[in-house]
Amino acid sequence: MHPVPISVPALVTGASSGLGEGFARRLAGRGHELVLVARRTDRLERLAEELRPLSDKPVEVLGADLETSAGRNRVIARLTGTGPWLLVNNAGFGTRGHFAEQDPKREAGEVLVNALALQQLMRAALPGCVETREGGVLNVASTAAFQPIPHMATYAATKAFVLHLTEAVATELRGTGVRVMALCPGPTRTEFGDVAGVEGDFERMGPLFMSAGSVVSTALKAFDRGDVICVPGMVNLAGATSVRVVPRFAVRRILEPVFRKR
Ligand SMILES: NC(=O)c1ccc[n+]([C@@H]2O[C@H](COP(=O)([O-])OP(=O)(O)OC[C@H]3O[C@@H](n4cnc5c(N)ncnc54)[C@H](OP(=O)(O)O)[C@@H]3O)[C@@H](O)[C@H]2O)c1
Repeated sequence: MHPVPISVPALVTGASSGLGEGFARRLAGRGHELVLVARRTDRLERLAEELRPLSDKPVEVLGADLETSAGRNRVIARLTGTGPWLLVNNAGFGTRGHFAEQDPKREAGEVLVNALALQQLMRAALPGCVETREGGVLNVASTAAFQPIPHMATYAATKAFVLHLTEAVATELRGTGVRVMALCPGPTRTEFGDVAGVEGDFERMGPLFMSAGSVVSTALKAFDRGDVICVPGMVNLAGATSVRVVPRFAVRRILEPVFRKR
């Protein structure tokens, strides 16, 4: 395969920080028209101002809270009936702690943003891609997708959903020219760690803690090649692969103390 042509517009969710901001910068640099989605529109406006001079293409800001049906519908409407898209389904967050003690509203919000919004936006973007045999969807999952994670139970389950959904849809679309990929990063230096309450644990991971820039570069190279799954970093790839051969009960028991709150 080859890079998605720059005539295809890109919509990036969660573009107000971290990986999403990285994807927006890189895709603007390639010359794509951009739609930036998140709740913090002040940040999106600042980024759009910075990106507009990079190409002669429009950079649009679309404020949406993907936890709400109104927010999801606004983005779905933007994607529907307008030809092919390069959709970067990146918005998401994590929560940590005993499942039974977690804030139920926040846990439900995690499912809505990480899983339902991603599924609905992909469903909205794909018909125009299939019709024109161009574009595709890059879904941001996580290495958390490869096994259950005690103390991050909902988060890991949403990412397993993303990985399975992506693999299945990518397989349905084989030979159509439309690419669908799951990006499965390990710990990456963004605002994620603070939001999820895992920042200290991430810092202790030393060289395993990747920069957003290197994750985005690896992801776009894999997407250009037409890969279905991308796990950036050799150690992350080894971890994702090894859980397939270690018994599931052992994986659960090994991970429990790692993610327990200290
Ligand atoms: N960093 C890591 O270690 C890591 C590892 C594996 C996977 N990931 C995944 O990578 C993706 C990007 O996260 P990140 O690491 O870049 O973290 P981040 O810096 O915290 O960025 C998260 C983005 O998601 C957006 N978002 C969160 N809730 C939203 C909502 N209700 N509506 C709309 N947008 C929302 C945020 O925008 P607003 O707050 O402005 O709405 C922000 O732009 C996530 O799916 C995450 O699960 C991260």
